[in-house]
Amino acid sequence: MNQRAIPLTELDPALVEATARYRARNPASERLLNEAADVLPAGNTRSVLFYSPFPLYMARGEGCHLWDADGHRYLDALGEFTAGIYGHSNPVIQQAIVAALQDGLSLSSHTAREAALAHEIQRRFPGMALLRFTNSGTEANLMALAAATAHTGRRKVLVFNGAYHGGVLSFGGGGSPVNVPHDFVVAPYNDLDAVRALVQAHGPQLAAILIEPMLGAGGCIPAAPAFLHGLRALADECGALLILDEVMTSRLSGGGRQALLGLKPDLTTLGKYFGGGLSFGAFGGRADVMSRFDPRRPDALGHAGTFNNNALTMAAGLAGLTQVLTPAALDALNQRGERLRERLNGVFTRHAVGLQFTGLGSVMQLHATDRPLRNAADLAGTDDRIKALLFFDLLERGIFLARRGLVALSLPFGETQADEFVTALDAVVAARRPLLPAAR
Ligand SMILES: Cc1ncc(COP(=O)(O)O)c(C=O)c1O
Repeated sequence: MNQRAIPLTELDPALVEATARYRARNPASERLLNEAADVLPAGNTRSVLFYSPFPLYMARGEGCHLWDADGHRYLDALGEFTAGIYGHSNPVIQQAIVAALQDGLSLSSHTAREAALAHEIQRRFPGMALLRFTNSGTEANLMALAAATAHTGRRKVLVFNGAYHGGVLSFGGGGSPVNVPHDFVVAPYNDLDAVRALVQAHGPQLAAILIEPMLGAGGCIPAAPAFLHGLRALADECGALLILDEVMTSRLSGGGRQALLGLKPDLTTLGKYFGGGLSFGAFGGRADVMSRFDPRRPDALGHAGTFNNNALTMAAGLAGLTQVLTPAALDALNQRGERLRERLNGVFTRHAVGLQFTGLGSVMQLHATDRPLRNAADLAGTDDRIKALLFFDLLERGIFLARRGLVALSLPFGETQADEFVTALDAVVAARRPLLPAAR
């Protein structure tokens, strides 16, 4: 164990005191949560948003800033867990939504908008020869898995420990009691030998290998390019489909991480910001797989969904992609993210503390260790109290990130905001240094 063990007696009182200050500063959030708890379990309807002693209630957002129920202003470094790439008030998105509203909601029909958005996505992801829309990334992955099992006539799905593909496709700690009952084979991430052994054992029954090109909720741990290319080869060998979940990583370039790596999945799933900040999901890929959803076919697979082509998502998504989120704008945002991550890690190096931000481009995650991270197992034993302490301290200095440490930049988050974040982190780390693990 090369990390300095922090005596409970030092860290716990610091956390108790930071939590007490948080509680004192945020009475309106605490009251709102208590009221909500009458109708929602612990006041919560989206698990990731809850943290103890109670989560902040946000009242409004503008650009890359948020205001909470008690009137505090924050720099939004979370960007809706990567979905809020446009910030809170992009005028192009706002106008597109208003214009769509004026045309009327709920037209019970095909509209020209869904094809226009699909064309724009296909231009960026040429491997999506045919695609369909859903209401969430979860649903996109569920449908991609359904497509794979129907196409191959097989039942097993190879996934990765620590991966997150949606509320019912969650593999932190290997799996979840609320997962859908596919026959999952769980492999360690970034370990091609282990996957090869599993493919040898299960290959003829494998319908799909489903993978995020970077573990997102699992800690922003990128897959090694050779690992991803190795999976492509293994999928080909055993006749399984390779499904690339780019719900988070699509924002790493105009064509996602697959374009950066020259990787050709059979199916791709998308979500998050593609709907301009509204509910969105899409799955698509090889024409021979996706054409099973052609309703004219006698053996057509169904794919229903009242809001699959809802007017507001289609309009906001299309306006965003065509007028705002050009590949050049994405590249610039990712470069800002790379620079910010280096500077944040520079703070840790300067203070000789054993912490790090991992990630790619404009998406990153704080970890309470500086050892190299390859997969979920490498995170075992890290002390979550450290992240809690830094979270409350950063909030107090006006920086909002996920309680688990996720940071995702939005377009309005520029160099001034990066300076603000680095300055705040520097002050927090300087003040807490005796409580933080020492650098290796
Ligand atoms: C990689 C990945 N896949 C799928 C999902 C699920 O998307 P949604 O929350 O829209 O259902 C997420 C959400 O965080 C994700 O990060």
